[in-house]
Amino acid sequence: MNIGIDLISFHTPAYYLDLRVLAERRGVDPDKFVIGVGQEQMAIPPPDQDIVTLAANAALPVLEEAGRDGIELLLFATESGIDQSKAAALFCHGLLGLPPTCRCAEVKEACYGGTAALRMAAAMVAARPHTKALVLAADVARYDLGSSGEPTQGAGAVAMLVTANPRVLALDPETGFHAEDIMDFWRPNYRAEAFVDGKYSTKMYLTTLIPAWQAYAAASGRTLADHAHLAFHMPFTKIAWKSYTRLCRAAGVPEPDEEETARILRPATVYNRRTGNSYSACVHEGLCSLLDNAPAPLDGRRLGFFSYGSGCVAEFYSGVVQPGYRGHLFTDRHRAMLETRTELTYRQYEDIFNYGVPQDGGDHVFAPYRGGPFRLAGVKDHKRRYEPR
Ligand code: HMG
Repeated sequence: MNIGIDLISFHTPAYYLDLRVLAERRGVDPDKFVIGVGQEQMAIPPPDQDIVTLAANAALPVLEEAGRDGIELLLFATESGIDQSKAAALFCHGLLGLPPTCRCAEVKEACYGGTAALRMAAAMVAARPHTKALVLAADVARYDLGSSGEPTQGAGAVAMLVTANPRVLALDPETGFHAEDIMDFWRPNYRAEAFVDGKYSTKMYLTTLIPAWQAYAAASGRTLADHAHLAFHMPFTKIAWKSYTRLCRAAGVPEPDEEETARILRPATVYNRRTGNSYSACVHEGLCSLLDNAPAPLDGRRLGFFSYGSGCVAEFYSGVVQPGYRGHLFTDRHRAMLETRTELTYRQYEDIFNYGVPQDGGDHVFAPYRGGPFRLAGVKDHKRRYEPR
């Protein structure tokens, strides 16, 4: 019996900053961001959007399509948690009207959290195939203004319904993973912005890719050529090209020419170039991008994924696209969302960055900005108040 992703939807804020505008302000050649790092724009959440609303906004179309019956698990992966105790999953459970017979929990391991949650959900469904799990992954990637990480900020959320006999992607059981206790990127509880050793984190991402791939290849007996496309965790899209070069070398195969490499990698990078890093949501945002933008139908084709979370855990895994999958995508919705976003000026970006959600413990009401069906209306008595728009 196949287990995997029955439906998948992605959501990103309705505002963005063009990285050429940022480059001009920072006195940097725009080609460094657009070509060297591989990013065009970064999504900026307004004050009335946080990880809960981003995730609920991603999930609503999935539930409207599939209903809520049989969902016995809701896992929420994030590294931008809004509470030290209560799981973000429970806020979404309420907003989305999920049944009380549904376990809810938050999962954390940097950008790997989304993959960890997907794997745990798949294991539960394998044990109880008549049940379903909803996996949410949402993050707001923030670095200090003017830091080298700044152009790799972004925001987004992914919702995945995990079932037996899925309509979109059947996960292969074989995976390869690798964990090490390192400090390449971290965010102490008292900070809203991450600390990062950018070069070291990139080195560790590319280094851990190899044992993860080798363990996967050994478990599955597959070669790189068995995968029609690859989707990598993308803190910035250029890393997909660096990763592929490494993988070819490790697999002992010549790297295809530029055109073939772009054919394999590019479809998964289309959305990320415009949203930036969405941390725990990133690799499956790449899956949405790949399914929506692949140049040829993917029915029956195998896709490879690499997930990396700083700290660090790396996993290579794969899945087979299900026949007829195109009838179950949210492609038009994804495209319309990206096409109708509002571009911010540099000043507006900095104002939103500095505003954040106030940390003073006081009561606040947030003006309505553009966004999806749910918004953060304010904070009262130390409690976030969410509402439908
Ligand atoms: P940097 O040091 O400012 O950039 O920051 P650089 O000097 O390395 O330049 C970047 C690239 O642009 C280089 O290409 C330059 O040559 C090129 P490369 O040599 O790498 O191929 N370049 C140009 N290209 C064209 N025209 C030009 C030009 N100038 C330069 N004029 C860095 C880069 C990624 C380190 C920084 O943005 C950063 O610290 N980002 C945050 C950390 C990060 O993204 N790490 C990635 C791996 S860790 C990870 O993925 C986990 C994470 O998602 C968190 C989690 O797990 O939760 C971050």
